[in-house]
Amino acid sequence: MPLVTTKEMFEKAYKGGYAIGAFNVNNMEIVQGITEACAEEKAPVILQVSKGARAYANHNYLVKLVEAAIACNPELPIALHLDHGPDFETCKSCIDGGFTSVMIDASSKPFAENIEITKKVVEYAHEHGVVVEAELGTLAGVEDDVKVSAEDSSYTHPEEVAEFVEKTGCDSLAIAIGTSHGAYKFKPGTKPQLRFDVLHECEKMIPGFPIVLHGSSSVPQEYVEMINKFGGAMPGAIGIPEDQLREAARSAVCKINIDSDLRLAMTGTIRQFFAEHPDKFDPREYLKPARANIKEMVRHKLIDVLGCNGKA
Ligand code: G3H
Ligand code: 13P
Ligand code: ZN
Repeated sequence: MPLVTTKEMFEKAYKGGYAIGAFNVNNMEIVQGITEACAEEKAPVILQVSKGARAYANHNYLVKLVEAAIACNPELPIALHLDHGPDFETCKSCIDGGFTSVMIDASSKPFAENIEITKKVVEYAHEHGVVVEAELGTLAGVEDDVKVSAEDSSYTHPEEVAEFVEKTGCDSLAIAIGTSHGAYKFKPGTKPQLRFDVLHECEKMIPGFPIVLHGSSSVPQEYVEMINKFGGAMPGAIGIPEDQLREAARSAVCKINIDSDLRLAMTGTIRQFFAEHPDKFDPREYLKPARANIKEMVRHKLIDVLGCNGKA
């Protein structure tokens, strides 16, 4: 089937009490690992591409990789999404360039300006059959070249969401409830806890409307330990507990973003491979187990965290 938008995926996910996985893609092995797991588990999927991914791999390569994944998995519903679109021009380039969904992230701008920029993207996107994710509230962490400290992050104000959704016409809304980007989400020794009260207040304001969670990697300690054991140094890397993500997936949260966990699986596996096979230098030999571990991690997310297996 051709690329789909997220419209039907989100309608079903909202009603069914599960969430769609949105996984960041940067190269062929990541695309393959994700889509093979999704095809085997019959899980609709969002493949998302950041500004950094486009700069690294080139827009055309990424689109062609996703087209190849469609050809290899013809039954699998796949949406191709721009992650954290920084401005109208980037969103337009992706809309014109074959994406079925874009995010305009003007969350760092004042409320009125966020509405204005988002509305402009929505108008252009909808004219072209593309859906738009917007964001209210600021997550901590690093995304592309923007770094937001924990002090400068802020939870979404539930009293703003209905006006924002109505005035912009966006199709889904990313909110800030304590998730953050990257592998260091909570200070060691503190109790990781999402603000479900903020989530439920937001839900009440926009009933039936799909909510998105960014920064939702759980930073599996298995891979952090593997990286540290084989020459890396990632002390104190902590993610979102998976039971909290599962709880979020049962609510109005229809899309959960995962990138760092893929990076950890890939990096840990490759570090281990090199440590155990110092004489090897064929990229296929170390990328193969890395791809296999990404696949198994995605399978685990689909079944145990998102609950979207069997929904395609
Ligand atoms: O939210 C950010 C995503 O993890 C993408 O990361 O900008 O390094 O590609 P990136
Ligand atoms: P993580 O860094 O938690 O994987 O978040 C990814 C993300 O939100 C992409 O937009
Ligand atoms: Zn994000």
